[in-house]
Amino acid sequence: MVLARVCQLVGALILAQFAWRIANAIYMYFIRAPDLPTYLYPSTSGVRPWALVTGSSDGIGKAIASQLYQAGFSVYLHGRNADKLELVKKEILSLPANSVQTLSNAAHDVKIWIQDAAAAEIDYDNFARTISTLHLTVVVHNVGGSEAYTKPFHAQTQQELDKIININARWLTQLTRVLIPILNSVDGPKLMVNIGSFAGSFTAPYLAAYCGSKAFVRIFTRTMCADNDFMRNIGKGAKHPIRYQHIGVGSVRSGTNLAEIGFGVPEARDFARDLLRHMGGPDRDFAASPAQALQEFMIKCLPQQTAELAIGKVMRQQYKY
Ligand SMILES: NC(=O)c1ccc[n+]([C@@H]2O[C@H](COP(=O)([O-])OP(=O)(O)OC[C@H]3O[C@@H](n4cnc5c(N)ncnc54)[C@H](OP(=O)(O)O)[C@@H]3O)[C@@H](O)[C@H]2O)c1
Repeated sequence: MVLARVCQLVGALILAQFAWRIANAIYMYFIRAPDLPTYLYPSTSGVRPWALVTGSSDGIGKAIASQLYQAGFSVYLHGRNADKLELVKKEILSLPANSVQTLSNAAHDVKIWIQDAAAAEIDYDNFARTISTLHLTVVVHNVGGSEAYTKPFHAQTQQELDKIININARWLTQLTRVLIPILNSVDGPKLMVNIGSFAGSFTAPYLAAYCGSKAFVRIFTRTMCADNDFMRNIGKGAKHPIRYQHIGVGSVRSGTNLAEIGFGVPEARDFARDLLRHMGGPDRDFAASPAQALQEFMIKCLPQQTAELAIGKVMRQQYKY
């Protein structure tokens, strides 16, 4: 009798949690107005806000940077290839941009930062000094990836593994460190969005270093959110704390991923459109679109080994190894 009651109670709690999550997702994806305009405000001297997007010479980063420019932000592009970045800058400057009344007199600009994110020595503080006076309100940490996905872990070299860890985890950590004071010097809402991967929650063959470093991105972001909560609870919270968000990304057709477009597999441009529509709100860890959220949920529902075998099969078909 007591056992039956306990089971009923546990069942009811699980159902209530499930219903809450569905209601939350419906509100976020289909009802809530976009939050991005919250970060689109001029400085006290009338300067247009800047958005920094790392890894914006191609793929998802390029699409995000282009659409942030179109939304009204000045954009700081970053990458390792100067020629590619110059082309992207030219392309972006030729795009039609939304006219925002409060910014109508402010210059609308694009700048470039060239830096190999995998380099052993990076002077992050020097870059921070360069941009210290910018009215920076949005940062999208997008650099990431893994080029060593077609051979087993033990066949990957020290250089390949260092590169994966550097571009996915070390770069994010060190850049965040120097960007926080710059964001905090802005008196108003500010946002840092960290592009993660489903690989941060699930395994994929040969991608131990990538999966591990994307799990780092997820837990790093959530811990930054927890730090904000902690500071507020001890009475040291900022008036406008930086909002941190982690995006769990599934397959997206991009510069390096030539997957076929289909349900939950968008083009970079469509992925960026969904992301800009949903980023900036109270959610700390989410997928950019309902289709990718559903995909992630379905993978989580499968027994772990079944999910891992299925992911392995898809990877093998896609990358032909
Ligand atoms: N596409 C997907 O299916 C997928 C899935 C899950 C997660 N993600 C994540 O989404 C983000 C973007 O991926 P993507 O598919 O758009 O990749 P992508 O098309 O290869 O673009 C990556 C961007 O980062 C730049 N980059 C790469 N290594 C760099 C380095 N060492 N230094 C400086 N810049 C560097 C690239 O520059 P170059 O133009 O010089 O190459 C490019 O601008 C990554 O964090 C990735 O892990 C993607």
